[in-house]
Amino acid sequence: MILCANFKANKTRQETRAYMAVVESFVSANEIDDIVMVFPPFTALEHLSRNVLIGVQNAYPAQNGAYTGEITLEQLEEFGVKTILIGHSERRHVLGETQEHIAAKFRFFAEKGFAIIYCVGEPLEIREQGDEALMRYVDTQFVGIDCNYTDLIIAYEPVWAIGTGLTPTSDQIVDMHAALRTKTSAPLLYGGSVKVDNASSIMALENVEGVLVGSASLSANDFCEMIAQASQLKQNERENECL
Ligand code: 13P
Repeated sequence: MILCANFKANKTRQETRAYMAVVESFVSANEIDDIVMVFPPFTALEHLSRNVLIGVQNAYPAQNGAYTGEITLEQLEEFGVKTILIGHSERRHVLGETQEHIAAKFRFFAEKGFAIIYCVGEPLEIREQGDEALMRYVDTQFVGIDCNYTDLIIAYEPVWAIGTGLTPTSDQIVDMHAALRTKTSAPLLYGGSVKVDNASSIMALENVEGVLVGSASLSANDFCEMIAQASQLKQNERENECL
């Protein structure tokens, strides 16, 4: 499983340090072999990771240059960051990133060998138009994206499930992940109102290889609990195989 914590614009540098201490010691004390990633705000980046991968929530596709207010490759390299979220719905819908810009970002960071967590997902009005409209919409989010990129993870995050407490039904997640599976062999994550109460059942669904967690990941204990649930699922699977 792959478990990702997306802090968005939350937590100070000091809070992030305290958080990382909890998660890192949980991961090592429990010999977790699932992949754990944390995406803190830029201001909290440090060379602090031992067994937890640190990624960024965004960056501008350039080595450096006149991009006021942006962070480019040069600054990420200073912190050894090699993992990036691209296409998150808040960047698409709140910050107005176009598919063209997103694809340019994807190409740039793929060329630099970054692990890319590429996010797709539909707004509610599209979901309400039915399956065909839904898949047409999601297809547009793959324009200019290399689904065969080796270090790719796809996160399905329906916009209407992000930060709302609403989650799709299991069937809706399974159907979307099955459709995504026809496009790529990359691991598929689900994101959108994942929390301790539903993480395990979501991770147990077919073609769900992990979760991308926002608000519920802000509590280190809750995030650790979700990591433990992933471990437990694997353990159960092993036991079932032995029967
Ligand atoms: P929430 O878990 O707060 O719904 O956010 C999901 C998300 O956007 C993760 O990237």
